[in-house]
Amino acid sequence: LLRVLVVGGGAREHALAWRLGRDPGVRVWAAPGNDGMRPVAQPCPVRADDADGLAALVAREGIDLVVVGPEAPLVAGVADALRARGATVLGPGADAAAIEGSKGWARAFCARHGIPAPRHRVARDPVEARGVAASWPLPVVCKADGLMAGKGVVVAADRREAVAAAEALARRGPVVFEEFLEGRELSAFALVDGRRFVAYGMARDHKRLRDGDRGPMTGGMGAYAPVPDVGPTEVQAIEDILDRAVAGLRADGRPFVGFLFAGLMLTPAGPRVLEFNCRFGDPEAQALLPLLDGPVAEVWWAAARGALPAGWRPSWRSGAAVGVVLAAPGYPEAPEPGQVISGLAEDGGCPGALAFHAATRREGGAWRTAGGRVLTLVGQGADLAEARARAYAAVAAVTFPGCQWRTDIAAPERGTPA
Ligand code: GLY
Repeated sequence: LLRVLVVGGGAREHALAWRLGRDPGVRVWAAPGNDGMRPVAQPCPVRADDADGLAALVAREGIDLVVVGPEAPLVAGVADALRARGATVLGPGADAAAIEGSKGWARAFCARHGIPAPRHRVARDPVEARGVAASWPLPVVCKADGLMAGKGVVVAADRREAVAAAEALARRGPVVFEEFLEGRELSAFALVDGRRFVAYGMARDHKRLRDGDRGPMTGGMGAYAPVPDVGPTEVQAIEDILDRAVAGLRADGRPFVGFLFAGLMLTPAGPRVLEFNCRFGDPEAQALLPLLDGPVAEVWWAAARGALPAGWRPSWRSGAAVGVVLAAPGYPEAPEPGQVISGLAEDGGCPGALAFHAATRREGGAWRTAGGRVLTLVGQGADLAEARARAYAAVAAVTFPGCQWRTDIAAPERGTPA
């Protein structure tokens, strides 16, 4: 029996726990988890950034493997703290997690290791930020240097917007300015053991709140896999990017263990790295993990111990998965919690689809919303069209007052070959 602790409490962590729980001989705990995860994991009242609490839980339950879902505890060093106490952890230490934790550091890293990325400049203070915003060719991408839960990016189309974004972001620290790239976005994943890596799937996320990629940036409103519009030359270029990143982190003395996530723009000149993340994507994990075939826990455990089996490759089920996020009213600025959710079974499930819970609570015999991104409903099918139809059938059945969702996840009219 392999005993696995998933750290985090969102829909990505629910998907990780659900996928682990499908392996024979695996038992799963989650810290803190959420009520919707109960059918697959035992939630434990320990925060994701409470290294002492997590270490005590690992010791008490005899946990063999810790899988850390979210970026914030990784950037804060939770994997280092747990490893120092003897735990086996799938997740990078703080040094390697800087690839997500500091956008400025990550840009310099790309330049140093020949990783194709947009032209950029880091402004270290508000005066410099205003100066760059006033002169950078439009449109310009302005990013906070640190973690912003996917909401720290502004694509400014005019000068006034660029300067306003720069001023707002500069209040929080350095600002990274980047050349705006046109193309198709893609999230590519690697499972990394510090030295070796294996490509671990690709998915496409939809980051803006509203249909047609309009409205504010969010953590992600939906995702689908597989992504049919990626050709063999692009696949090769993406593997080369992952290879350079893994080797570069090792050469910099920051070996990466865990899921490395390259956020890419597929441009006519080839893939360019928009960002690296130090963990699985949310909602990409919810779409990708149901397609992953065979047992997963043993190979994750091997990677966490620096011993990814040479030549091993993941196998993927045929077919497709489409995940649609239901978000609370007011998300992303000021989500209103406490709405009653209708259409979920008592155990949190939903007929005909997978319901991965994020911000939900079971209270007085009802499911209630408890934060911004509430649930991801995932439809599976023989192809994207069938998976999409099943996801949206679930969306029609599960709802709450003020629920926000996009109607165009994996929509063929948006250029997604179905
Ligand atoms: N879906 C994008 C992210 O996880 O950062």
